[in-house]
Amino acid sequence: MGIVGRQFANPRGIAGRIVGRAMVRGNASFNVWVIRTVVGEVGQISRVVELGPGPGVGLHELLHALPQAHVWGVDRSPAMIAQARQRNRAALADGRLVLIEGDLIFLSLVAPVDLVIAVHVLYFLHDPVSELSRVRSALVAGGEIALGYRLGRDMPRISQRQFAAEGHRLYDSDDEVAAHLSAAGFAETQLTIQDPGGTAGGRVMIART
Ligand SMILES: C[S@@+](CC[C@H](N)C(=O)[O-])C[C@H]1O[C@@H](n2cnc3c(N)ncnc32)[C@H](O)[C@@H]1O
Repeated sequence: MGIVGRQFANPRGIAGRIVGRAMVRGNASFNVWVIRTVVGEVGQISRVVELGPGPGVGLHELLHALPQAHVWGVDRSPAMIAQARQRNRAALADGRLVLIEGDLIFLSLVAPVDLVIAVHVLYFLHDPVSELSRVRSALVAGGEIALGYRLGRDMPRISQRQFAAEGHRLYDSDDEVAAHLSAAGFAETQLTIQDPGGTAGGRVMIART
């Protein structure tokens, strides 16, 4: 059991607030890259959910990149909902953004949507095929899911050591991720790697219903 495995899956309390700030420092540029890549690839988007937005950097970029879209952020961590709220006050005030504290079961409240994005959340889907199926059922026909992630070998050492003990899943290959998406009923997976040949290993996989 380890604090990193627990806190990144569901940041809580004082440690969770610190982890949220660490996510901003560590993940901001990847989130921005994922959002820009996805927005460049997908079609017309008017309703989009970010699942597990954490401190809300990706939501901020989504609101900027899709100025006509209605955006929801669904996160099970109250500490992260609070940080996402602080970071996106203007969009909340004008009604373009709604934050929901809850698990992905809450996607049904906002369905149908055109796009679900989840960055560094895949690892915490302990039953990935059924959870990805739940995402698929929240999408319009032709809707898309975009998963931002790193393979296990590119994750920090401490995550490699601690995640499995918590039931979290690290992936050895993109094919494993694509296989889960396919088993969940998605088609046409498309992979983009942030820095091919580099060491960071960030990637985004987009799949269509
Ligand atoms: C590692 S953080 C990533 C946060 C942000 N997307 C980023 O890249 O910095 C994972 C986030 O997903 C949330 N999360 C994980 N599994 C979830 C689920 N099944 N439903 C809702 N939120 C979830 C956690 O609470 C946490 O805020």
